[in-house]
Amino acid sequence: MNETLKVIADRYSCRDYRPDMPSDDKLRAIAEAAIQAPSGMNRQPWRVIVVKDKALMKDIEDEAMSYLKNLEDSSTYQRIMDRGGALFYGAPCMIVVPIEQNDYSLIDCGIICQNIALAATSLGIANVICGLTNMAFKGERADEFRRRLGFPSGYVFGCSVLLGYANTTKAPHTPDKEKILFIE
Ligand SMILES: Cc1cc2nc3c(=O)[nH]c(=O)nc-3n(C[C@H](O)[C@H](O)[C@H](O)COP(=O)(O)O)c2cc1C
Repeated sequence: MNETLKVIADRYSCRDYRPDMPSDDKLRAIAEAAIQAPSGMNRQPWRVIVVKDKALMKDIEDEAMSYLKNLEDSSTYQRIMDRGGALFYGAPCMIVVPIEQNDYSLIDCGIICQNIALAATSLGIANVICGLTNMAFKGERADEFRRRLGFPSGYVFGCSVLLGYANTTKAPHTPDKEKILFIE
């Protein structure tokens, strides 16, 4: 297995972080790997916002949890509570990817997040793609968070990736090889 395939195989979603912050050099390398992602018609409809501000992360996390708690279907809220009650799992930093919407921007957003996850893994930084951050952008504080995160006008929350050092590790999921089909 070459280095790239090994990083892909080693990546897993970390849900338990230590408080120590990755170095700016590593965070910058991850952010630069992010923006090397392909995008439909090379529109690059994204920003890559590295958030190290603890107070801002806590505000976003609290708002997302409160939004989830008040949903009619509280099963997601309950699942997070069963996992320890922290949407961000104690991660010291995150990358938020706002996008400018077009037909491909959600796909572009997924690809950029995978670049972030793989670059982080290659540097020994644990990570998890965190779509549920979106919940903080559905309620009354959405505009406040867009402003505090510096979203350009017209950009909406796309996705986020939590980053840090793993407190406990887990194995990558077992891939289902039945999903691969060769037609010859
Ligand atoms: C688009 C997307 C959104 C996700 N959102 C969350 C999330 O909000 N919280 C979380 O703990 N994991 C989230 N995940 C991680 C998945 O649950 C995880 O990738 C899946 O369970 C497979 O596990 P693995 O990443 O360890 O292989 C997300 C993954 C993707 C691709």
